[in-house]
Amino acid sequence: MSEIHFARTLSYLDDPAHAGAAAVRFHERGAVVVDDDGRILWSGAAADLPARHSAAPRVDHGDRLLSAGFIDTHVHFPQWRMLAAPGRDLLEWLERFTFREEARYADRMHAEAAAEAFLDRLLENGTTCAAAYSSSHAVAAEALFSAAQRRGMAIATGKTLMDRACPESVRDDPEKGILESEALIARWHGRGRARYVITPRFAITSTETQLRLAGELLAAHPRCLMQTHLSESPREIETVRALFPKAASYTDVYDRFGLLGPRSLFGHAIHLDEVERRRLAETGSIAVHCPTSNLFLGSGLFDLAGLEDQERPVRVALATDVGGGTSWSMPATCGRAIEIARLKGGDLTATRAFYLATLGNARALGLEGEIGSLEPGRFADFVVLDPRATPVLAARDDLSETLEDRLFALAVLGDDRIVTETRVAGRRLHSRDTADGTPR
Ligand code: GUN
Ligand code: ZN
Repeated sequence: MSEIHFARTLSYLDDPAHAGAAAVRFHERGAVVVDDDGRILWSGAAADLPARHSAAPRVDHGDRLLSAGFIDTHVHFPQWRMLAAPGRDLLEWLERFTFREEARYADRMHAEAAAEAFLDRLLENGTTCAAAYSSSHAVAAEALFSAAQRRGMAIATGKTLMDRACPESVRDDPEKGILESEALIARWHGRGRARYVITPRFAITSTETQLRLAGELLAAHPRCLMQTHLSESPREIETVRALFPKAASYTDVYDRFGLLGPRSLFGHAIHLDEVERRRLAETGSIAVHCPTSNLFLGSGLFDLAGLEDQERPVRVALATDVGGGTSWSMPATCGRAIEIARLKGGDLTATRAFYLATLGNARALGLEGEIGSLEPGRFADFVVLDPRATPVLAARDDLSETLEDRLFALAVLGDDRIVTETRVAGRRLHSRDTADGTPR
């Protein structure tokens, strides 16, 4: 039985930075019709709702804002409970806290319980799809794929490849790492909504042999994604230079092993020279902006305007990077991205930031035909946001006159409390409303 949702509806057809206002579909009173299979059948202004749908059951979200679910393009599953670990910089944070926590994911029972908690955190923040790093243990990736499949969620993940410069408890070896990745690809990639991401952690924790094998694996599975970290912190970059003296740059390390391309996601990508930017642009590689993490670890300020320079635009995506990131919320991540753009002398509107968190991130994952907007045929993965969720937001909302204004307040002030409900393929998987209708 199909179902109609009424709300203020927001969806994007394109990037507002290029296509302007025509890219944004906003209806003060909108409607979204969801079919039995959890796909969007129709969306538009409620006044234009075709008569053939009018008998379907109705859900009225009032003045709340209904948007495509958020997509997180860089988040670490085995770091789900270690936000705010007080490492002074990236390398100290990895050595003192992160590797130790990830070592627990060798245990299947631990990984299975953690996968449920991880997906709960995503959903309560309105995130319906994520590209997640798993730990280096195949059982952890397996646990996450299985848990996401049970909920019908689109998850992209992969076993992390790391064969040096880390404790034995999280270390693999090149051949075993590739064999395990291949087995996971065969079992999960393209099964339902699952996608495999080939995941060499970063240049410091992979030998040349492992990076070469990862590049070969990507060439053999061109429909898989690839994710790694690039040019995040000054000490990391110095270490990479010393480890790969023949490479012209950090980006060149990955380039030499065939890891650049339109399905390749490079987390952070902060400190890049012009040659590196040009190479990312010409290969269609994606620079993933992780604003809360970059602030927390003191890594640096992402140069959004510089990367998107019209001369050679680098594709960009937006992500939390939990647990280096300090918030699970993509709206809050939009808020920090706006603030960092200001510090860099640029301008990021909230309307564009919400595009990045939805359709932009869907495009980065090559999933724009499936998710990221409210267009017919997409999965009914959506979120209902309350612009009046807290006393502070309600007071601010009284002053809001435009969509940009309202999205700006949600980004700068919002967190999980703004998420009234989250739907995956039309099914409500998270709700803040209790049975009597009062917020929890
Ligand atoms: N670089 C290598 N591993 C990591 C990680 O887990 N988090 C972040 N932020 N950077 C990394
Ligand atoms: Zn990361």
